[in-house]
Amino acid sequence: MATYAVTDIGTLVTNDPALGDGPLGVRRDAAMVFEDGRVAWVGDSRDAPAADSGRSLHGRALLPGFVESHSHLVFAGDRAEEFAARMTGKPYTAGGIRTTIAATRAASDEQLEANMRRLLAEARRSGSTTVECKSGYGQTAHDELRSVRVAERMTDEVTLLAAHVPPPEYAGRADDYVAMVIADMIEPCAAHAKWIDVFCERGAFDADQSRAVLKAGVAQGLVPRVHGNQLGPGPGVRLAVDLEAASVDHVTYTTPADIDALAGSSTVATLLPGAEFSTRHPYPDARALIDAGVTVALGADCNPGTSYTTSLPFCIALAVREMRMTPEEAVWAVTAGGAKALRRTDIGHLGLGARADAIALDAPSYLHLAYRPGVPLIREVWKDGVLSVGS
Ligand code: NIG
Ligand code: FE
Repeated sequence: MATYAVTDIGTLVTNDPALGDGPLGVRRDAAMVFEDGRVAWVGDSRDAPAADSGRSLHGRALLPGFVESHSHLVFAGDRAEEFAARMTGKPYTAGGIRTTIAATRAASDEQLEANMRRLLAEARRSGSTTVECKSGYGQTAHDELRSVRVAERMTDEVTLLAAHVPPPEYAGRADDYVAMVIADMIEPCAAHAKWIDVFCERGAFDADQSRAVLKAGVAQGLVPRVHGNQLGPGPGVRLAVDLEAASVDHVTYTTPADIDALAGSSTVATLLPGAEFSTRHPYPDARALIDAGVTVALGADCNPGTSYTTSLPFCIALAVREMRMTPEEAVWAVTAGGAKALRRTDIGHLGLGARADAIALDAPSYLHLAYRPGVPLIREVWKDGVLSVGS
């Protein structure tokens, strides 16, 4: 098979401590060879073997492609007015989701697909090479099935967010909605999804309702993940740990008992600072989580309500400036952390045999991702060893 060499890498992040310094496995003046869509060689640039083609980075940085483990891309419309009202003091409530449910139900599959493709292209230009996508704006058996079928055309990481918020026709009847989800929605959708998610929050679903939905998903072969503790303290974190969920996401309001439970578990805490930015909630206590030994990922949570951004570089900058994560922790969290949240070992690092998903910055070091906020630093993106952004 053809080989492709990336040489003169100023700073290479491998996320493989055996290949370089620290948890990021950093090497200077490095080179990497891709073969057959995988990483085939890593070493000093001066030792790089001859390859069929490639390019010099002239001292710029190379990192693993970002792994976006939390997004909601199957929807129609936007909620710009709701955002503007929030910025003048109106609080966010989960009920805003119903605006998007109405628009999504009214949209054709083609419109939903086109919107998701547009957002995926945007995410790719920001360095995301894997993007998880949730349903959750249909909230009927028919519209959730449409949503997961649209999503599976564009990503392998599809999540059935079966219980996002009780839709208008079930207002005040969340138990009845949950019964419908379990009876009519999960089985037909399960063939098109990998994960099952619920919004376990006041105004959405309580612990018993969330548990029932997640267990019904597990019975159909789906793996649980949970939206929890976003808008206030609650049972989401402990439910996720109890069910050995792959991740619990948001984790904005935590008690010491929540942090202890996470620290003793395999559940990843996925922090989504774009949501706090856009709802004016406080940022999650990343330091307490990391210092307790919790595995932390960062996601952009792209959705039209709480976080209409696909940019993980923006989230890195927020995490470093507002959540006191080190640049190294933030870079790890959008690469290796995202991969752990999706239980993937082939992505999120650039060790030998890893998928050749990589990004080159228009900067000499990964530090610039936080140091130069708002600047489009992603200059090239390779997906499976093929250049997909840059020329
Ligand atoms: O992740 N928390 C629930 N779901 C989304 C928000 C959805 C919306 O407001 O449309 C989130 O923040
Ligand atoms: Fe979300």
